[in-house]
Amino acid sequence: MTDVPRAVDRLDDLVSLDTGEIDRTIFSDQEIFDLEMKNIFGRAWLFLCHDTQIPKRGDFFEAPMGSDNVLVVRQRDGSIRAFLNTCSHRGNAVCRAEEGNVRNFMCTYHGWTFGLDGELVGVPGKSIFYKDKLDLSKHPLRKVAQLDTYRGFVFATFDETAPPLEDYLGATGRLGLDMIAERGDMEAVPGVQKFTVHTNWKFTVDNVFDYYHPQITHMSAFSVGLIPAPPDDFVEGGAKSDTGANLEVPFLPTDLHNFVVVGEYGHAISGPDQESLEVTAGTEPFAWRHKPEVEARLGRHGGRVAGHPHIFPSTWVTTNAQLSLRVPRSPDVTEIWWFSFRDRNSSADEQAASLDSQIHFFGPAGMLEQEDGENWAQSTLQTKGLKSREIPQLLKMGLGTSEVVKEDGLAFMDAPINEHAQLWTYHAWREWLRNPSWEELRERTIPRDRY
Ligand code: FES
Ligand code: FE
Repeated sequence: MTDVPRAVDRLDDLVSLDTGEIDRTIFSDQEIFDLEMKNIFGRAWLFLCHDTQIPKRGDFFEAPMGSDNVLVVRQRDGSIRAFLNTCSHRGNAVCRAEEGNVRNFMCTYHGWTFGLDGELVGVPGKSIFYKDKLDLSKHPLRKVAQLDTYRGFVFATFDETAPPLEDYLGATGRLGLDMIAERGDMEAVPGVQKFTVHTNWKFTVDNVFDYYHPQITHMSAFSVGLIPAPPDDFVEGGAKSDTGANLEVPFLPTDLHNFVVVGEYGHAISGPDQESLEVTAGTEPFAWRHKPEVEARLGRHGGRVAGHPHIFPSTWVTTNAQLSLRVPRSPDVTEIWWFSFRDRNSSADEQAASLDSQIHFFGPAGMLEQEDGENWAQSTLQTKGLKSREIPQLLKMGLGTSEVVKEDGLAFMDAPINEHAQLWTYHAWREWLRNPSWEELRERTIPRDRY
């Protein structure tokens, strides 16, 4: 057996925008995972929660930031702060609840107590055991470097040199969040749905853009009517049964156009073009977005998005007013978190219908994501093998065929179903791992003119 150089020492070879091939080692290698935590999750702006989840002073929400967990806390003056959920004494979590309301955080180990602002305000036996020599001001909870909100979505970064949040999001990331915010007076539905999949987090991200799999993976969802099946004349005999017969699979129309946006820092959007979906596949339009005022605010191209925006590295926005975090816990364990949103001004019936649909597509009770999860787990397991990982992962669909149009801050392609957005995300991922300056990173993730 020849020694293969460590993956972290051959970043150039791991992803190719030209061949559409990815090195499978990246889905199981512990050193790659550690580098992701440091150079991606340790620097990027990461979504924490929505403003409406912590409306009152003392409200808190625990959120993941890479390998750390932070407490996002509404302050007495209405502002929001976030700090690591680890006691400055000996590391215990200062809060065991996922969300709630407190006056302060008392560590359950020795009782050190921290104010809403993270300052250490109480140490049991301070005079007796420490002889008053402990300077409390030196041991607050560790704060994130920057915290900001965009239209109620709270983000933070551990990097004090990171560009402002709006610049980081760019037109692509902002459009994704606008697609929730523009629906009405939006608030987060109480509670976050969480579950664990034995998969590498990157599989859960690249699937966001994948419109090649639904007709096979989600055949059962088509068959029970969860997804409206396109008309019969769009059936394409691409898949064969074991007798060689064409499977009666409701394939997405081959002339269904994808609207693919690729953005700086690795943000992307991919999925059917809204107009094409309405005309070609005959599915219902998203009524809310046809309001003239919404179309005006989403911009000329924003109204065309019927697919999935993704904010690098791991925040996905759905067309169903949901937002999902893909939370890496180890190379082969990923938590999936689902935040659902509703319009405060909609009727109880409308809210119930919206929640019903949000629960039944994705999340622990979501038919689609449970089907997806089976594939992700097997892809993770089977690409780990000594020989199996030598085979390249393929993202070649549509390679080299699409011109990029750059307008209104967006770089987009109109093309049949393709794998451009997946490949773009892996390209950006590789550039993040190199740990360049923010200026260099932006430069290296400016979309090309052709994919
Ligand atoms: Fe928190 Fe000791 S670890 S008080
Ligand atoms: Fe799926």
